[in-house]
Amino acid sequence: MESDGFGEGDLERFVCLIDGMNLIVHDFNNLLAVIGGNLEMLESRLLASEDLGLVREARSAAEDGVRLTSQLLAFGRRPVLAPRAVDVGKLVAEFSGILQRRVGDAVELRIVVTGRRLRAVVDKAQLQTVLLNLATNARDAMPNGGRLTVELSGLEVADDYSDIYPRLQPGRYIVISLTDNGVGMPANVRERAFEPFFTTKPSSAGEGLGLSMVYGFARQSAGHVRLDSAPEQGTTVRLFLPRARDEAVAVPIGGAG
Ligand SMILES: Nc1ncnc2c1ncn2[C@@H]1O[C@H](COP(=O)(O)OP(=O)(O)O)[C@@H](O)[C@H]1O
Ligand SMILES: [Mg+2]
Repeated sequence: MESDGFGEGDLERFVCLIDGMNLIVHDFNNLLAVIGGNLEMLESRLLASEDLGLVREARSAAEDGVRLTSQLLAFGRRPVLAPRAVDVGKLVAEFSGILQRRVGDAVELRIVVTGRRLRAVVDKAQLQTVLLNLATNARDAMPNGGRLTVELSGLEVADDYSDIYPRLQPGRYIVISLTDNGVGMPANVRERAFEPFFTTKPSSAGEGLGLSMVYGFARQSAGHVRLDSAPEQGTTVRLFLPRARDEAVAVPIGGAG
């Protein structure tokens, strides 16, 4: 994998890996709890038997396992997000050089901003990681070059929009969409694309954690992410993030934007 020269890619991979590990450890923890619980029941039925010692040992080992996995879970706990009002237009503009380097010279990067004061309540560093993950996917989908369009806009989800946006609470959002004109995804890939460790790439190119990180970020930010893709048609990923409320202080007279 390429490097941006200041380790951003390494951080990205590390955060995604820890996230994926966490899911596995969590499942493992549940399995151990079931084993321990059953052994405990067995123990009470075997009180007079010679086999009691074996069961006790097994149960104590299962308890050690639960302790160990709990420690792993504590270690791998998601970095606490520090959400605050972030000017997404400014962030993307500042980040465009890094995005361009990520997709490479053969891909034309376009940035389209509709509206003003597009501020979302998010963790800035995590949003940058999300953009890098999505740009990496776009690059991989366009091995012979193409175009990546990043669009920013505002969206108001009204109460009666629930059939159009079933996953979004009514309210105001910032929409960040990334559209590539790459290979696109067939239905069986699209349906699984957000799964941790799901990848169609050779192991040297992908770990299958990019989109699962994006999904986790969107949900943790009280937003949502949507995927539109078809073979040969390209792909659009839309991120919906809660919009920051305009502080009255910052709004000039007559200029509530
Ligand atoms: N922009 C895209 N165009 C086509 N396919 C994509 C795109 N983004 C993601 N995918 C598909 O979704 C899979 C999962 O993506 P991701 O979670 O980022 O893992 P990885 O990139 O490591 O494979 C990819 O392997 C690919 O098949
Ligand atoms: Mg990826």
